[in-house]
Amino acid sequence: MVKIAVLGYGIVGSGVVDVIYKNSSVITNNAGCGIDVKYILDIRDFPDSAFKDKFVKDFGIIENDPEIKVVVETIGGTNPAYDFTKRALLAGKSVITSNKELVACHGAELIGIARERNLNYLFEASVGGGIPVLRPISQCLVANELDRVCGILNGTTNYILTRMIEGGLSFEKALCEAQEKGYAERNPEADIEGHDACRKICILAALAFGKHVYPEYVETEGITGVSLEDVRYAESDNKVIKLLGRAIRLDNGKLHVFVGPHLVEKETPLASVKDVFNAIVVHGNAIGEVMFYGRGAGKYPTASAVVADVIDAVKHLDARKYLNWEDAGREIIEDNGRFVSRVYIRAEGESVRSAVTSAFGEVKFIGEAGKNECAFITRCLPMSEINEKTKLLSEKCRVISKMKVL
Ligand code: HSE
Repeated sequence: MVKIAVLGYGIVGSGVVDVIYKNSSVITNNAGCGIDVKYILDIRDFPDSAFKDKFVKDFGIIENDPEIKVVVETIGGTNPAYDFTKRALLAGKSVITSNKELVACHGAELIGIARERNLNYLFEASVGGGIPVLRPISQCLVANELDRVCGILNGTTNYILTRMIEGGLSFEKALCEAQEKGYAERNPEADIEGHDACRKICILAALAFGKHVYPEYVETEGITGVSLEDVRYAESDNKVIKLLGRAIRLDNGKLHVFVGPHLVEKETPLASVKDVFNAIVVHGNAIGEVMFYGRGAGKYPTASAVVADVIDAVKHLDARKYLNWEDAGREIIEDNGRFVSRVYIRAEGESVRSAVTSAFGEVKFIGEAGKNECAFITRCLPMSEINEKTKLLSEKCRVISKMKVL
């Protein structure tokens, strides 16, 4: 029997404890031994819980108990999760987490500590919830040179965009609906401003390309500026709007990594990923494109991935697993101005079409333009050039929206 501790008894932590006991027979078979939760750490009291005898408030009890071999961190955020994770690893315990913020901000350091001590720091649930994606990238695809990762990485924003596209709801109404359904938090900033997707693309990029990508180096835009007018213009050109996290490895070894709303062709696989579902497309030079799809959030889908990591850690108590990358700085990030893309732009003003043509040259106008408004898609150009031309256009007209086209 291997004893573990669970830090944080919120949605994911309680799901982990439930799954461990509900599926104890299959877990024992797969781990080769039983797994028992000895402690649950939470600052709150749970007097009516069936597990009430397991609750502790002092992390030192877990840290100093040699019987605890694996610690599950489902607190979220960086404080106190960072301190507890580091202390658990330094005390010789493997750590499993669903905490994308912690991995995105401190992953290189924590992986380094685990590596030095021959322990495991595993975080499959941090990206895509229950979707197996980190293990396939770090194991099944390692024969490839990977050069692109692109994904719908946030369920809340994908739900909001789906309701705008299919239900004709405004952004504000779709957000309220997502909150009523419990998808979006009362403070939805991390989702709608793109920070959650940013943390996830940082983890995917680090794993795919071997270097830590810090969130502060990643140009990030959320979906608060996406309007129903943009949705309709996209529709008129057979496209939908999706919030994408993208990481691209260039021939010079540097990376483009960014998050933002994109226009996506309806016929492509990512366009058909709806509601709260997530999908991640990875491109390798041997496999071509492969897509991972499923529920990117939720109590039990996420617990499924966390408990699988626990089983893996229990099976490899004396062996390091494959999740690995090195620390790196801003020098690995390529100047965003060099990224080459087509871009969708919506603008309004007098003689807007001729202003567009004089700033951009040849473009593809889309939709039924109002008298003073138009939308268009540029040629494939470096973003620095697009930005210069947009500045020129904005001297004559109001530029309302601007999004990359995938
Ligand atoms: N808020 C996140 C989402 C939860 O909506 O995808 C999973 O990370």
